[in-house]
Amino acid sequence: MSAQLEGPPRAPEYRETLLDGVDHIEFFVGNARQAAHFYRSAFGFDVVGYSGPETGVRDRASYVLRQGEVVLVMTAPLGPDGEIADHVRRHGDGVRTLAFQVEDAGAAFQDAVARGARPVAEPHVVEDSDGAVRLATVRTFGDTVHTFVEREEYQGVFLPGYRREFKAGSGSGLHVVDHCVCNVELTRMDEWVAWYNRVFGFDVFQEFDEQDIATQYSALRSKVVRGGRGGSITFPINEPAKGLKRSQIEEYLDYYHGPGVQHIALHTGDIVETVGWLRQQGAEFLAAPRAYYESLPDRIGDIDEDLEKLRDLNILVDRDEHGYLLQIFTRPVEDRPTLFFEVIQRKGCRGFGKGNFQALFEAIEQEQAARGNL
Ligand code: FE2
Repeated sequence: MSAQLEGPPRAPEYRETLLDGVDHIEFFVGNARQAAHFYRSAFGFDVVGYSGPETGVRDRASYVLRQGEVVLVMTAPLGPDGEIADHVRRHGDGVRTLAFQVEDAGAAFQDAVARGARPVAEPHVVEDSDGAVRLATVRTFGDTVHTFVEREEYQGVFLPGYRREFKAGSGSGLHVVDHCVCNVELTRMDEWVAWYNRVFGFDVFQEFDEQDIATQYSALRSKVVRGGRGGSITFPINEPAKGLKRSQIEEYLDYYHGPGVQHIALHTGDIVETVGWLRQQGAEFLAAPRAYYESLPDRIGDIDEDLEKLRDLNILVDRDEHGYLLQIFTRPVEDRPTLFFEVIQRKGCRGFGKGNFQALFEAIEQEQAARGNL
């Protein structure tokens, strides 16, 4: 990743004091019970909480999944009307909420709105016998929202209204959200980059520029915004670009019917172990061309891992001036070619695998071609 870009002045006091990190990611899905089972069985998450008719919630059912610091919430509508059903009809299963941990949800909301964020829910307190949590929500790209979660003293399993319901997953070594990638429409990337810079004081980094070879292969332009305490929140933002083939970002936008979260990257301390286990459990990954591994030693130099194991598991490697990373991408996790996951292990490298784009996109294009969308 190259140096920080010149941009409008950011607001460091906002970044450092108000957003602590990613709190949870909520999906709106057609069937939350089955989605929860998928993330438990294929990815090793524990199911830790539930809310629905049995807890007094009439219009939805939600399951909370946890692994390390990663919290995913699967929410399904119980009827044909309302925001959840609308979201699922339009987008299929997808990410509705990227929630931030904050110390003061009221201040986070007021500051974001003062800097141009559109309000969705004013700061409000929800409580049960385990304590109280303050929440507030603003809109971001597409139908996606950011919720500020202030739960300092709260003792419950997740949020008020959720009951403890523990079903152990076997764990797979995934422990923290490394980054979440957002796809936006052609020519809108800079607008959303400026939005994150202005509204949350996020730093801006160039990832691919117009002349980049990666843009030709990936048919996307990408910039990265980063903020939160210690830079713990990272959102690469993509828009389609002219490339050698039809952009996968366009395919996403067509099937998601607008901008949204393209992939969620989860970090592991041992990618060989994690991916071996995930494959056994039935998680499906993109294949890398065989030739990729022949040129790898020249491109990457010495690495700790056994090259044969990486090739067997289809794990990709990239390097920057700070070190290297290992990564692999799942196939889309629903029938529409929209949301997928990345498993990543960083060994110093701060990038996102730009050097893998050529190899990766050859693999994606094979799948795109098979769907007749190339
Ligand atoms: Fe990524």
